[in-house]
Amino acid sequence: MSSLLVDNIGELVTNVAGTGEGGPLGIRRRAAVLVEQGEVAWIGPAADAPAADRRVDAGGGAVLPGFVDSHAHLVFAGDRATEFAARMAGQPYTGGGIRTTVGATRAASDGELRTTVRRLHAEALRQGTTTIEIKSGYGLTVADEARSLRIAAEVSEETTFLGAHVVPAEYADRPDEYVGLVCGPMLTAAAPYARWVDVFCERGAFDADHARAILACGQALGLGVRVHANQLGPGPGVRLGVELGAASVDHCTHLTDADIDALASTRFDCMCPDGGHTTTVATLLPGAEFSTRSPYPDARRLLDAGVTVALATDCNPGSSYTSSMPFCIALAVREMRMTPAEAVWAATAGGAQALRRDDIGVLRPGARADLIVLDAPSHLHLAYRPGVPLIRQVLHNGVPQ
Ligand code: NIG
Ligand code: FE
Repeated sequence: MSSLLVDNIGELVTNVAGTGEGGPLGIRRRAAVLVEQGEVAWIGPAADAPAADRRVDAGGGAVLPGFVDSHAHLVFAGDRATEFAARMAGQPYTGGGIRTTVGATRAASDGELRTTVRRLHAEALRQGTTTIEIKSGYGLTVADEARSLRIAAEVSEETTFLGAHVVPAEYADRPDEYVGLVCGPMLTAAAPYARWVDVFCERGAFDADHARAILACGQALGLGVRVHANQLGPGPGVRLGVELGAASVDHCTHLTDADIDALASTRFDCMCPDGGHTTTVATLLPGAEFSTRSPYPDARRLLDAGVTVALATDCNPGSSYTSSMPFCIALAVREMRMTPAEAVWAATAGGAQALRRDDIGVLRPGARADLIVLDAPSHLHLAYRPGVPLIRQVLHNGVPQ
């Protein structure tokens, strides 16, 4: 059995609260990590490290769990660079461009879609993302949603059916019929390739009744719930997600006090090792506010209320064409009143909670050996040195990339 030792670590962020310094980050110094069979086998003082077949010298850099990007739309064709330029010249973002991408995606071959998914997946991995959730949502026919998820499932086990992204043009005057299609044949065809169901619950997309019906159909097929909520304005999405026990409500840009109270009071029983409960996470997507030049959500308000916050990229060709978790961390710290430690936790352990996973986003024996080595001595540098490629080395399933 081949083993690998990561040593000469400047600081080790474990995300095991109560271990070492840094509160929830559980920072250990002079530590080493032993990896065997794709898992963390041992963590302890470097001086006591067992012998291993191979060594990764962290060069005094910080070592962290790989980033968990719990919200991305990677299955699409074409881009919307001119729409972005128009926004930067003053046009508002309405989500109307989604239909442009739907047209391009339907016209693309499986091979073209696969090439884009793999390119973006590799781009994210190079930037330290070792788990990425991938949504459908640019096909919006039975066949195109199913193939989007089939292709997504080739690179990620975290796949999400978003057939209710918008009502496609051909159903514009028959939204009830489209909801029937989504709940029936589309979900039947797509569910075998999906772990989650998501709905864009927003004015101009799906209202609370339609969203509730679609999410319930997904749940009945065994899918977990997540919701695109409160992105463009206040609305029912967050409270609907809480009502249905969603793992995460995402965007959360426009929140009322009642939305925050609802999120703060979530506590569901589960088979988790850490006390048997989990919550609905608020996943914030600052790349979307950056790329749509919109006001950022106030993470401080959520954190101070006791809500669990995750950070993700929302990588998509319309509202946030970035695959960079370090960029999102920097934005969260600068624009959303998060501390660097909170942002790093949200981009790793927070993302894992948003996917209801306890084997990633954390470094402890038995966890997946997904870790990154920074070209910097501390996690603080991720926000302190924005735009600088600080990811020196990535291990995914224990394998150096
Ligand atoms: O999460 N808001 C809905 N969907 C995407 C944007 C999709 C697009 O503009 O193409 C989002 O921001
Ligand atoms: Fe999204």
